[in-house]
Amino acid sequence: VCRGFSSSAVRNVVIKHVTVIGGGQMGAGIAQVAASTGHSVTLVDTNDDILKKTVKGIEGSLKRVVKKKYADKPEAGEEFIQKVLKNVSTSTDAVSVVQGSDLVIEAIVENLKIKQDLFSQLDKAAPAHTIFASNTSSLPISDIASSTNRLDRFGGLHFFNPVPMMKLVEVIGTSATSQETFDSLLNFSKTLGKTPVSCKDTPGFIVNRLLVPYLLESIRLHERGHGSKEDIDIAMKLGAGYPMGPFELADYVGLDTTKFIIDGWSQMEPNNPLFAQSPMLNKLVEEGKLGKKYRRRILQVQVI
Ligand code: 3HC
Repeated sequence: VCRGFSSSAVRNVVIKHVTVIGGGQMGAGIAQVAASTGHSVTLVDTNDDILKKTVKGIEGSLKRVVKKKYADKPEAGEEFIQKVLKNVSTSTDAVSVVQGSDLVIEAIVENLKIKQDLFSQLDKAAPAHTIFASNTSSLPISDIASSTNRLDRFGGLHFFNPVPMMKLVEVIGTSATSQETFDSLLNFSKTLGKTPVSCKDTPGFIVNRLLVPYLLESIRLHERGHGSKEDIDIAMKLGAGYPMGPFELADYVGLDTTKFIIDGWSQMEPNNPLFAQSPMLNKLVEEGKLGKKYRRRILQVQVI
């Protein structure tokens, strides 16, 4: 591993207070898992209505978690939920809350400029020891980090949907991420009860670099008339042991997210057939048919 050992103020930061920016699916899941493992979490989004919905969502997901874990002890389950919810506070002012944070995890819209503007502001307000991390699916961490003066304390923490269930975290170091920061992010992932893997700052890291071309090839296979959506889903579930077929999974992560990733990569490498565009995916996204996270199943079984 060729990672710079810079002379930052950080020496393996023990992360206690976490700020999660973005109350969407990923931000909510990350906040839930961090709060469930004893971290104090501040969840930030642009308005109180979104934050209220996010906290409701976290409560709903916690209920699913305790249903099995505390099957014989429902009171203990309810106690656990209340304890976790106490660890979560909300705010619409990222700049002020970041002052008490050991780690900031950003899970907002996949737009480089918006992410850079956010981190540039936070960089001025956050204490020296605070580590910044992005949960981006496909943007280079080094491009996001370039808006700050803490390149050594900047990395990627990439979670998977649904965050409470998926055991993996990809920890991404850029060429400027210090070893201390990288180790702190690895340790933090373990304290969440997750298994971390070390990734380079390359497109899609490990999982999405393999998963997204597979999803796109499944759609192309269908576009070529070589299989129905239903048969392709059944085939990959029963023939390859995947928990969801590719159409079900594309709906689950969002067709907009899938398209966004492939758009970025096809711009970077226009001649790479793995990154080729799909007319069907483009049309559905253009029509606003974005998938299950918007409570509409698009590719899976019925097209609404
Ligand atoms: N919160 C809490 N619990 C949840 C949950 C959530 N959001 N979603 C599911 N669960 C729990 C259920 O309560 C259930 O618990 P039980 O076994 O105790 O009853 C358990 O998970 C299983 O759920 P279901 O019975 O409803 O359904 P499945 O057995 O199919 O499991 C699944 C659901 C875990 C989502 C499984 O289908 C799966 O692993 N799917 C693949 C997901 C995947 O590949 N994710 C990665 C996407 S890529 C990504 O996120 C990267 C991004 O950058 C694009």
